[in-house]
Amino acid sequence: MTDSKTAYAGPQRVLSGVQPSGDLHLGNYLGALVKFVALQDQMECLYCVVDLHAITTWQEPKRLTAQTREIAAAYLAAGVDPKKAAIFAQSAVPAHAELAWIFQCVARLGWLDRMTQFKEKSGKHKERASVGLYTYPVLQAADILVYKATHVPVGEDQKQHLELTRDIAAKFNHDFDAPDFFPLTQPVIEGPGARVMSLRDGTAKMSKSDPSDQSRINLTDDADAIAAKIRKAKTDPEPLPEALDGLAGRPEADNLVGIFAALSGRTKAEVLAEFAGQGFGRFKPALAELLTARLAPVTAEMRRLLADPAQIDRVLADGAERARAVAEPILAETKRIVGFWPG
Ligand code: AMP
Ligand code: TRP
Repeated sequence: MTDSKTAYAGPQRVLSGVQPSGDLHLGNYLGALVKFVALQDQMECLYCVVDLHAITTWQEPKRLTAQTREIAAAYLAAGVDPKKAAIFAQSAVPAHAELAWIFQCVARLGWLDRMTQFKEKSGKHKERASVGLYTYPVLQAADILVYKATHVPVGEDQKQHLELTRDIAAKFNHDFDAPDFFPLTQPVIEGPGARVMSLRDGTAKMSKSDPSDQSRINLTDDADAIAAKIRKAKTDPEPLPEALDGLAGRPEADNLVGIFAALSGRTKAEVLAEFAGQGFGRFKPALAELLTARLAPVTAEMRRLLADPAQIDRVLADGAERARAVAEPILAETKRIVGFWPG
């Protein structure tokens, strides 16, 4: 069902989103924001703040509004140009939720039962999780397909949700005899920043839900905090190897080299060529310096933007209007295909 060959002939379009449910960290920056910026010169781009997804777990209402503006500010500070890309809140475009309902009737329970993110997030007591948390990936498919987006820049953890999106598109196209109506969307995942790991454990993903703040670099961390976290980051006593295969079985070393590579726009092999034979006593300060040089301007710009929420609100209002203009005709055509009145 997930054959990558498709005769879809519509325009190439990018959609992605980040939840306003916590502070952004280096994983979000490298896995998502850096790619958002790179794609805006290549295709039409739409970047939303997925507040409907955020409320699948409890969010304090005032905090939700503030975090939505913070994520929008992070998009802008990272370099997303609101003239090129539409930046908007998901809840400001009702077509997402409407298409999600149709897709809930296309997706199968068995498909959702396999979703690993639900299993992780619902924990031991899944009967206490919200129904929305379970159908979360269906809403994500609607976010993407309500724009017929062909490309979705995300971190590696979203791969399974993108596969589900393709399965929903294929089943819809097949069931309603509408060949190639929805595209089979491609994830944009590649690169060393696609899976940034915890600074305390190279086998666990860097995550906002990790109880230890030492495990992640937050976009709001200052130079001192970054230096301290990198200094304390778990490593091994060996010097850096000459080639990639020397990183096998050394997840922490691999992660730090990957972060260096992603931040400097190089491959891990190129980073190793520079640092081969050196210990972490040398490598860590270089990494901390690079992190500060890359993140400090983003943090400063975020602070500046958040001091004037009216400017962010103008960006969000304009983005929502542009997003609605793309989504509404696609939703209307979908409803016609399904057979909703007046046909
Ligand atoms: P979230 O904060 O879960 O809404 O994630 C926002 C974006 O950041 C998604 O594209 C994720 O795949 C990406 N992301 C989250 N954590 C990481 C990580 N540790 N490494 C790379 N990308 C990540
Ligand atoms: N599920 C994504 C995450 O946790 C957020 C998201 C919601 C998303 N809708 C999307 C990402 C559509 C890409 C496209 O990170």
